[in-house]
Amino acid sequence: MWKIGVIGTGYWSEKHIKAWQFISDAEIKGFCDRNKGLLFEKADQFHVPTEYCYTSLEEMLSEADIDVVDIITPPETHLELVRLAAAAGKHIMCQKPFARSVEEAEQIVSIAEAAGVRLMVTENWRWLEPFQIIKKLLAENIVGNMNVIRYTHTDFYSPRFAPEKELPQPFFRDMPKLLFYEMGVHWLDTWRFLFGEPRRLYAETKRVSPYTQGEDTGIIMLGYEHYFGLMDMSWATRRELDGQLSEQVLPDHKEQLVIEGDEATLKLYNTGKLCLINNQGVEKVLVEKTELNYEESHKKLQAHFIDCLNTGKEFQTSGHDNIKTLQLVFDTYDSAENHKVHVY
Ligand SMILES: NC(=O)c1ccc[n+]([C@@H]2O[C@H](COP(=O)([O-])OP(=O)(O)OC[C@H]3O[C@@H](n4cnc5c(N)ncnc54)[C@H](O)[C@@H]3O)[C@@H](O)[C@H]2O)c1
Repeated sequence: MWKIGVIGTGYWSEKHIKAWQFISDAEIKGFCDRNKGLLFEKADQFHVPTEYCYTSLEEMLSEADIDVVDIITPPETHLELVRLAAAAGKHIMCQKPFARSVEEAEQIVSIAEAAGVRLMVTENWRWLEPFQIIKKLLAENIVGNMNVIRYTHTDFYSPRFAPEKELPQPFFRDMPKLLFYEMGVHWLDTWRFLFGEPRRLYAETKRVSPYTQGEDTGIIMLGYEHYFGLMDMSWATRRELDGQLSEQVLPDHKEQLVIEGDEATLKLYNTGKLCLINNQGVEKVLVEKTELNYEESHKKLQAHFIDCLNTGKEFQTSGHDNIKTLQLVFDTYDSAENHKVHVY
């Protein structure tokens, strides 16, 4: 049984907690947030005993009986929290964005390595159902040799961040780097998972919303030896709306992916339908409905973490691996700002 200490019981922690409570050889034995009210509210909601509750990581590390620290706090806290957890000999799962720079990510990875503890970045996007299926289909060579990839994400979210509106993550308004730092880590991790390491990157970004500091729209071109792809990502587009927007401002992410090969085109529609179009133009439905089910993705991701602890296998998204994703994220900003192509 792996004993887990959770730190950060805010908005996203529910996904982690539910997954830990689902996995048979994991158990929450420590529960920590510096916001005491929120800490006890979440403990009550998820039936975590109050004697497992702490308001600082130091306190949890010295008093709780835990093997793992699960960090669900903002990126600016990760270096210090990893330093403390690693010094106490705990294995670590750390939320994305893993670090504020590639250099800081390297520092975090070195700290964990020097302490001899395992470190995985919480990258759940690649564990979402459509991407897991697409990965298997590509491994079966379903499209033949890839030519062009188009990945599109749309939402009409950030233009609705007016100050009087309640947001699930109000800190989005103040992030100087928004879309590709906060969400782009997911997309670029998933892109690497499906298509491998790019050779070239060029990006354009723009802030559309009057209510954010950071960019909320952008396009990234990614070049390979024999194929290339485009990520067309936006939180400020009216494309793909289901109907009139609700009063409440919540994300409603729509993902589309089209992979053109010399034998077929694989198409993920924003409805979740997955199809294959052959060279005669015949479209066949492979899966009628896939879902962006975040709870399921966390169960798979956290089960993978536990499996790797049990077997000694490499984490798919180890701290070391995530440095490559972060490099693409920060190169996106550099490319957009300086109109520069990054060549790898
Ligand atoms: N994987 C995903 O799909 C996904 C989705 C949402 C958020 N996230 C990431 O999860 C992290 C947290 O996001 P959130 O939306 O839950 O934020 P949040 O602000 O709702 O929750 C963070 C919590 O951490 C606590 N905290 C911060 N520093 C602390 C410290 N030093 N000691 C103790 N408690 C501390 C805060 O009090 C807060 O309750 C972010 O890095 C975010 O990008 C990931």
